[in-house]
Amino acid sequence: MTVRLGVNIDHVATIRNARGGDHPDPVLAAVAAVAAGADGITAHLREDRRHIRDDDLQRLMTALMVPLNLEMAATEEMLSIALAHAPHAVCIVPEKRAERTTEGGLDVVGNQPGLRYFVERLTTRGCRVSLFIEPDPEQIAAAAAIGAAVIELHTGRYAHLAGGDVAAEVARLAAGAVRAAALGLEVHAGHGLTLANVGPIAAIPEVAELNIGHFLIGEAVFTGLASAIGAMRAAIDAARQ
Ligand code: PXP
Repeated sequence: MTVRLGVNIDHVATIRNARGGDHPDPVLAAVAAVAAGADGITAHLREDRRHIRDDDLQRLMTALMVPLNLEMAATEEMLSIALAHAPHAVCIVPEKRAERTTEGGLDVVGNQPGLRYFVERLTTRGCRVSLFIEPDPEQIAAAAAIGAAVIELHTGRYAHLAGGDVAAEVARLAAGAVRAAALGLEVHAGHGLTLANVGPIAAIPEVAELNIGHFLIGEAVFTGLASAIGAMRAAIDAARQ
């Protein structure tokens, strides 16, 4: 089984937003990413709209022929936006206004009734709901218990480790993936993945999808988006064999 590559285009929006105009357009970047081999597009509509904006979401829904994975916080505002657009997938993430990026996974264990409500509403609307969590056995069990179809394992800790700790974190992620699959969950992974560190995560047999953004958009400055995505695709496929 090959691993699907979801390209996160938020940082194209970040660059556009820095000058307040229309360029570079994250929707055109999404179309280019698909042409370069992305299997899906991921975008995070944050409360402060620092990445994509509401009209980008509308345009992505119209422009894309591949699955759109909308990342969002579990708030009523985001729920009503997601229900209005009904993207293929919704990944619920923890969101703190002051953070630079999504730090850590959701506490599903501590928020089961609240998150179950979001999972049910979105699933009933036809969205495939994913919960962004740490590879913690209790969080995985709670995600299954509240009816999520998918978990996305947070690889941020893995991406920032060095030395012997890396192998231990890969083992923790792999064990989490096995546990999740045994509970019937589809397993995705993402955050902080690069050409240099994607291999061990792509090699985890249960991982069906990787969502990668910051590295690809940064690398595109040097090699172009198509080349960056092509190199990532090749690294993922090589690791999987
Ligand atoms: N998956 C989720 C749930 C995320 O929140 C992010 C960051 O927006 C990513 C994947 C992609 O992380 P990165 O930009 O570090 O590749």
